Amino acid sequence: MKITVVGAGNVGATAALRIAEKQLAKEVVLIDIVEGIPQGKALDMYESGAVGLFDTQVSGSNDYKDSADSDIILITAGLARKPGMTREDLLNKNAAIIKDVTTQVMKYSANPIIIMVSNPLDVMTFVAWSASGLPKERVIGMAGVLDTARYKSFIAEALDVSMQDVSALVLGGHGDSMVPIVNYTNVSGIPLTELLPQDKIDALVERTRNGGIEIVNYLKTGSAFYAPAASAVEMIEAIVKDKKRVIPCTTLVEGQYGIESVFCGVPVKLGKNGVEQIFEINLSASELEALQVSAALVDENCKSLTALLAS
Ligand code: LAC
Repeated sequence: MKITVVGAGNVGATAALRIAEKQLAKEVVLIDIVEGIPQGKALDMYESGAVGLFDTQVSGSNDYKDSADSDIILITAGLARKPGMTREDLLNKNAAIIKDVTTQVMKYSANPIIIMVSNPLDVMTFVAWSASGLPKERVIGMAGVLDTARYKSFIAEALDVSMQDVSALVLGGHGDSMVPIVNYTNVSGIPLTELLPQDKIDALVERTRNGGIEIVNYLKTGSAFYAPAASAVEMIEAIVKDKKRVIPCTTLVEGQYGIESVFCGVPVKLGKNGVEQIFEINLSASELEALQVSAALVDENCKSLTALLAS
């Protein structure tokens, strides 16, 4: 197993280290355009293996040739948000970067699985899919795992219970229009609605929607990276170990939930072939409408990139 991580910033470097520590690959390659950064961070990580006791080979490079024959490519390249910016503000700049990165990696790997982390997430997953020519099940966006992780952590904190016992689902696009599904949220099977009053639940849902910007406002110079990296590696682990995990991921939705040909977050089965199944669950009328609105926003942004993708 060879995994390439494109982008040696905070998300990429944290993800690479986590992949190595969990020994999910024999080889991890960190690629970035900035000279010295991927090499330096990769060497430092590799040396940490003597303490953390992993044998994964970690190397860094500025040359996409070194990504050759990767099984999985994690794309974290692009600009991150600053305070006051929405994820959509990054649209045009990151679309050009992601198109280029995807074209480069596809020159050297025949049939990789691409996992997208760059924002605006759902649109960038579409860009990578369009530029790669890969089948839809092999280009997957990381958002639902992160948004669900935030939602679960806030619930665990509010109830003073273990995060391990919270089961939840956040669907839709990775943006202000994401849709935490309260009816499918429970603590060891106990519905959340029996444990917290509606106003408290509403506040947790709102905090989840703003989970990314809450961290941007603290950091000021960038966005979250520990939870995003952990979430991407959770997906990689599901694929590498063919775990058939049922988790929300961004995938091409074609007809389910009344959504036609839009990349958006839905519950999927994740295994060695990527997205192996999309689950279409019953939603309340308002949840379904919110999901469709969220998908329509993604679709509008994807359509605005038609000229860039055709060039
Ligand atoms: C976040 C950014 C990475 O949600 O989208 O933190």
